[in-house]
Amino acid sequence: MASVTSLSDSVQQHLASALTATRPEAAGADPLLRRSDRADYQANGILALAKKAKANPRELAGEVVSHLTTGDLIKDVEVSGPGFLNITLGDRAITANLAARYADESGRLGVPYAERPGTTVIDYAQPNVAKEMHVGHLRSAVIGDALRGMLDFTGEKTIGRHHIGDWGTQFGMLIQYLFEHPGELAPAADVDGEQAMSNLNRVYKASRALFDSDEEFKERARRRVVALQSGDKETLELWQQFVDESKVYFYSVFEKLDMEIRDEEIVGESAYNEGMPETARLLEEMGVAVRSEGALVVFFDEIRGKDDQPVPLIVQKADGGFGYAASDLTAVRNRVGDLHATTLLYVVDVRQSLHFRMVFETARRAGWLNDDVTAHNMGYGTVLGADGKPFKTREGETVRLEDLLDEAVQRAAEVVREKARDLTEDEIQERAAQVGIGAVKYADLSTSPSRDYKFDLDQMVSLNGDTSVYLQYAYARIRSILRKAGEVRPAAHPELALHEAERALGLHLDAFGNTVFEAAGEYAPHKLAAYLYQLASLYTSFYDKCPVLKAESPEQVENRLFLCDLTARTLHRGMALLGIRTPERL
Ligand code: ARG
Repeated sequence: MASVTSLSDSVQQHLASALTATRPEAAGADPLLRRSDRADYQANGILALAKKAKANPRELAGEVVSHLTTGDLIKDVEVSGPGFLNITLGDRAITANLAARYADESGRLGVPYAERPGTTVIDYAQPNVAKEMHVGHLRSAVIGDALRGMLDFTGEKTIGRHHIGDWGTQFGMLIQYLFEHPGELAPAADVDGEQAMSNLNRVYKASRALFDSDEEFKERARRRVVALQSGDKETLELWQQFVDESKVYFYSVFEKLDMEIRDEEIVGESAYNEGMPETARLLEEMGVAVRSEGALVVFFDEIRGKDDQPVPLIVQKADGGFGYAASDLTAVRNRVGDLHATTLLYVVDVRQSLHFRMVFETARRAGWLNDDVTAHNMGYGTVLGADGKPFKTREGETVRLEDLLDEAVQRAAEVVREKARDLTEDEIQERAAQVGIGAVKYADLSTSPSRDYKFDLDQMVSLNGDTSVYLQYAYARIRSILRKAGEVRPAAHPELALHEAERALGLHLDAFGNTVFEAAGEYAPHKLAAYLYQLASLYTSFYDKCPVLKAESPEQVENRLFLCDLTARTLHRGMALLGIRTPERL
């Protein structure tokens, strides 16, 4: 539990006791407490309760009020409308509570730990070997990283799995080509990310051309697939070259994205190669999978495609080969059986949701998933261009991820340069990277993951509106005020009366802990993003209305500096959980 109970949780507890004291059937009822413009909080739960108890809601509300302890925390409570409770807190309680949170050295800012944390294996950032990354891979990486940050912070143990596409028939063609044209891929140690990708592209195109035009090569490529799957040493060495070269490229993109990827968590499709025959055998023995036209498949009553034909999950193809489903099923066995996952979380394009439904259902039938394990596909939507169609270049090609990130950074540099004239060119570039990459991440994270969103750089780096730059500026502005305060240190003074704007800011700061906790539990980074945006807005109106350094008394200056600092810390922590930097100056 958090060491400092939030104001809203305390109010909630007071209400719960009042409800219990009112009448037995009210015990345990949800008072439905929320922030309100009328008072500090409004509780609407008595309506439903009155209906159930067949009581007059206003009367019942009055009874609850008579049992509610008022004092330092709840200064005032009144019944309004059909039976709402309007609750106003004491200024002293607000400041004192925020001060306790400010003094808490754990730096948790009120975020509670999960009572019974589990182990979540999170499958995200999974590009494909020898292929260019696209915006879909961007989403998986950005959302996955944010979810992981949030879950870790609530005490969940997370294990990352980057299920990269590093296995399959296309490698026969690539390896055979490399075999016949040695030296086309420079050793991975000698290339940077960009060179690696351009080498891979060249080999890919050349081998494809040969594959499509030369029947004999095609045949040699087929035999190469068999050699790969049977573990032929020379073949595996060449395959490893593709993987290594691709990793150089992946790492360069992830570095640009300011994201840490650990080598031991890159566990691609190939890692499950050895377990796949057993997966198939077990499924067949249990009768979960059946032979159909030579292939080993799983049928589902409720999953049907065109013409009402059942759509099966193919575990093993008629030619004996294993594919995507077999590797995912084997991965489930590994993640539950060996990694002891209590939750399997897949951050994968929503267009693969049918695949995951079938994989999960198969694993349940086989007993590899049971009631103690939750499996969830956090299926994300498509990245759209300004025209509302899937994001492509003008020529209709997929957009290279590095180009996109470079452009975002460039745009950000323009914004930074315009605002801050006293920065050196190096400083501008450093800030531009933090602003540009932050903008890309925030745009992605601020919409619900399941929805499509428009990739619009102009909007993303705008200073107005719901953007990361707006939040970063709010943070930098606060930091600048704290620097200007010089010797004067932030300090809470609970004896001071609060301005309307201070209360609003303070009560929103109070909500940080529960917001992070809920957003993590619901896999909803956009809820944290919305919280942070509102925090910056409330700070802006506080700053407009309440002079800080020029406040009327020294105590008032210190108290407002304290609110500033707590806001800065909260912005910083919240953004960090989303994977976004907050520069000290902009
Ligand atoms: N590499 C796949 C793709 O690019 C995504 C892998 C998702 N993870 C998984 N366990 N299937 O579409």
